[in-house]
Amino acid sequence: MTASLRFLMCAPHHYDVDYVINPWMEGNIHKSSKNTAAEQWQDLYQIVAQQATVDLVKPQPGWPDMVFTANAGLILGQTVVLSRFFHPERQGEEPYFKAWFEEQGFTVHELPKDLPFEGAGDALLDREGRMLWAGYGFRTELDAHPYLAKWLDIEVLSLRLMDERFYHLDTCFCPLTNGYLLYYPPAFDAYSNRLIEMRVPAEKRIAIDEPDAINFACNAVNIDRVVVLNQASQELRQRLEQAGFQVIETPLSEFLKAGGASKCLTLRVTEPVQADVHAEATVESKTLHLEGHLLDSGLINRALDLIVEGGGSFQVLKFDLGEQRQSTSSAQVKVSAPSHDVMKKIMAQLIDLGAVALPQEVCDAQLETVTQAGVAPGNFYSTTIYPTEIRVQGQWVRARNQRMDGVVVVSQAAEGMTADCCLLRDLQVGDQVVVNVDGIRTVRKPDLRDARGTQEFSFMGAGVSSERRVELVVEQVGWELRKLRDQGGRVVVVAGPVVIHTGGGEHLSRLIREGYIQSLLGGNAIAVHDIEQALMGTSLGVDMNRGVSVRGGHRHHIQAINTIRRCGSIAEAVEQGVLSKGIFYECVRHNVSFSLAGSIRDDGPLPDTQMNLVEAQADYARLVQGADMILMLSTMLHSIGVGNMTPAGVKMVCVDINPAVVTKLSDRGSVESVGVVTDVGLFLSLLVQQLDRLTHPYLIR
Ligand SMILES: NC(=O)c1ccc[n+]([C@@H]2O[C@H](COP(=O)([O-])OP(=O)(O)OC[C@H]3O[C@@H](n4cnc5c(N)ncnc54)[C@H](O)[C@@H]3O)[C@@H](O)[C@H]2O)c1
Repeated sequence: MTASLRFLMCAPHHYDVDYVINPWMEGNIHKSSKNTAAEQWQDLYQIVAQQATVDLVKPQPGWPDMVFTANAGLILGQTVVLSRFFHPERQGEEPYFKAWFEEQGFTVHELPKDLPFEGAGDALLDREGRMLWAGYGFRTELDAHPYLAKWLDIEVLSLRLMDERFYHLDTCFCPLTNGYLLYYPPAFDAYSNRLIEMRVPAEKRIAIDEPDAINFACNAVNIDRVVVLNQASQELRQRLEQAGFQVIETPLSEFLKAGGASKCLTLRVTEPVQADVHAEATVESKTLHLEGHLLDSGLINRALDLIVEGGGSFQVLKFDLGEQRQSTSSAQVKVSAPSHDVMKKIMAQLIDLGAVALPQEVCDAQLETVTQAGVAPGNFYSTTIYPTEIRVQGQWVRARNQRMDGVVVVSQAAEGMTADCCLLRDLQVGDQVVVNVDGIRTVRKPDLRDARGTQEFSFMGAGVSSERRVELVVEQVGWELRKLRDQGGRVVVVAGPVVIHTGGGEHLSRLIREGYIQSLLGGNAIAVHDIEQALMGTSLGVDMNRGVSVRGGHRHHIQAINTIRRCGSIAEAVEQGVLSKGIFYECVRHNVSFSLAGSIRDDGPLPDTQMNLVEAQADYARLVQGADMILMLSTMLHSIGVGNMTPAGVKMVCVDINPAVVTKLSDRGSVESVGVVTDVGLFLSLLVQQLDRLTHPYLIR
């Protein structure tokens, strides 16, 4: 027994499961046996008392969880950080524990109100007392960690808890004598697991499996070489013994019903201070400003979820709710992250939501020079579809050629500083690339609310329309197409061969002929099958009028390719009178620019198909520029390519029979994109009918 070592316990006179504040309590209200609990607690008391002195705090009626003294506070030397319980059900314990600590002569620190921290349940010193592992995610806020570092003058390593069954750090993590660590890795996020692996050598890590974890094996009391726990598997027992520990099992089933075991039932009171150890907290905080229809657009929820999912925590410092239906709201949110790297990842995503640093905290963007052509410096900022501004020499500069997955190059031009979205492959040695996340903001439209009333298109919202809504979408797209044609707008169609197979070719031809479409993007296949249909009446060998396969029809598409190759190009074939109808005929006749991007499955290919994909991408990007609306018709490959090079603000309609494809393509988080799950042939035929209706309202019923 080490007489100088002291633990605090609280007899279970008032213990019961009276409420549910963790998953273990569910279904266990008033199900624990008072007598058995008393016996189990007594057994634990005896075991601990053989190893150390046990102090007792007086149990209080109405506070059943006082028995779990680990949550009273966190002790180091003569200093205590008192717990601020997350749940009101436990907050009444605070004054009793505070009184006890003060009676013992401890200096008691109290965290600000509303900053939860649950004592030694969520903060564990390594047994050499050189650092403090601190948990967050369920009961303790990350923002409490810097206070621990400051008051206890010790390095704090923040670990994020992910599994609500292991809601306190001490339910899944137990530092042991001699640098060993008993822990359950799945209870932590990836970053925390990396941190553990960096700080605890592999030979000292005793990772346990779920069966031991749910028996609370990590909720163990370690006194020198003794480990006291509820239950351990044969394998765990052996591993601990090999590491030189003596395992004492003592059943604590009645306390497991409330989510605690031996560690929760004890608080180590003697925690010596190491003189050469000093404070270091890696927690980083930033304050951000968000503006818009934060509540009804769900922006604030998304931002806060993103912070938590990214491994950070937040505090809403200010929220001004717009009073009128049209007025915007604004919020100031303090974001904390356990490290600089985690903060950067969270910030990059918040920037995409339009969050900006407070004016007094804004600084210029960081630039780094490209040293290898086609390769960006590490930490480069990768762009989204949203208009982006870069702060250079104190001024915000709007990036040109906005697109997704680009890098921003800042240069000095005659007109002043410029910023351009570039592809990696276009980077030149000496280019100045924006890195990290400072001095970058994206400009989000105020939001849908105003748009709903005034812009016809946005009624559909960003989302997938079900079959029932197809006609409604068609009406709106028809209206939009007409308006754009009358105003000299620019409509781009991206189409796959299914358009031809489903009989949509004649409708698309008509849209081109009647001036609704200004550019057509596709691959080899749409052109091949359109031309096959024009020359032979079949698509992939299927007679388009009768819907049956034609004998030898499988050769038709290759014959079509050969015919065009003989002519030299599609335009030549039209010129020579070989090709006299179909989509590509109409394109040539009506000066509608088209680009065919090659792929590995292409037959032929047609002379017009660009097999150099870098060239093809550039060609697509040129034709997409200035588009007001893009119709994506049943081609996943080319539509995704186009989606990536299209900035926010361009209306996008994507039609596919597969809901997953539609969701992927239309899920740009922007109002202007809408997905339609339907047959593309049907869609085009309805669209043409709708346009007829708009043109001849009295003739067509
Ligand atoms: N002979 C050839 O040269 C040849 C033949 C086929 C494809 N290709 C090439 O392969 C690449 C990919 O071809 P892709 O774009 O056809 O394939 P893709 O897989 O990218 O897209 C086809 C899409 O059409 C959807 N679809 C299927 N039936 C539909 C219907 N009835 N209505 C609406 N949507 C429907 C599918 O869900 C899918 O998302 C292209 O570059 C193409 O040119 C070449």
